[in-house]
Amino acid sequence: MILEELDDAAGWLRTARRVAVFTGAGVSAESGIPTFRDGGGLWREFPPEEFASWRGLLSAAATSPGKLARFLLALLEPIATARPNSAHTAIAEIEKYTRVTIITQNVDGLHQEAGSREVLQIHGTLLEIVDSHGQPVRTLTRADLLEMVRRLHRAADRPAAALSLPWAIRPMAGLRPTGAYKPRIVLFGDAMAEPDWSAAMEAADECDCFLSVGTSGQVMPAAMLPSRARIAGAPVIEIGPEPCLGDIQLRGHAGSLLPQLVQAAFHQVD
Ligand code: OAD
Repeated sequence: MILEELDDAAGWLRTARRVAVFTGAGVSAESGIPTFRDGGGLWREFPPEEFASWRGLLSAAATSPGKLARFLLALLEPIATARPNSAHTAIAEIEKYTRVTIITQNVDGLHQEAGSREVLQIHGTLLEIVDSHGQPVRTLTRADLLEMVRRLHRAADRPAAALSLPWAIRPMAGLRPTGAYKPRIVLFGDAMAEPDWSAAMEAADECDCFLSVGTSGQVMPAAMLPSRARIAGAPVIEIGPEPCLGDIQLRGHAGSLLPQLVQAAFHQVD
């Protein structure tokens, strides 16, 4: 990374009255949660055509419950034990200096745990369980996730996984007398989570600095937010290891670059 770029990005951040921070799986990578599309990413082992829609998941439950149990373990186990990393903490710190809206595609709850207050979860969250009308049923803790992980390990090891899978995931998904319940997450083919998505578009339109962190920008409609902010006149700063289209790119890992950016924007003495 060129120091000049860090300085320019820090200048934009320092003078912004409203900042939008758009995050993807890469911001949680250093908390031990795999991304989707990198080597070792979730969709590499578990194809999204089979595992990224409710229809696909139901079909996997019927035809390959052992593989579904392994998918749920790959999804839940890292989240159950994750803690916010230095990128989440640095993002939360920006709130001390200006108004910040976090727009996250992640379902892991780590921004809130790091102390961010205005967090829009446009793909929902794994930690809130809702009924078929979207009404709250319960909230899960990481300890609940860990208990499900223990049960899933037992289910995945059994030849009759189909029988023990519903028991393993009962706190998160299942049937009760009034109908089905499941996590409030957005899968392929679902509508975006509201009212978060409408608020996210508004934040992109109204911010005067847009920071995009750890996303491949491949999933619509979320991926249109940086262009929306740019059209509305905000500079776009992108942070991640891959080349991207931001007005300024900070190439590298969020866990080291975000603390440097916040330090340069708000703590540096000239
Ligand atoms: P992806 O897996 O598509 O992209 C993750 C991005 O993070 C890549 O560009 C990586 O280069 C980058 N990355 C990896 N490690 C990083 C680090 N330490 N610091 C910064 N960046 C890093 O994940 P998303 O873009 O979040 O949606 O994926 C978007 C959506 O696709 C997800 O919300 C999910 C998925 O399908 C649904 O399931 C609806």
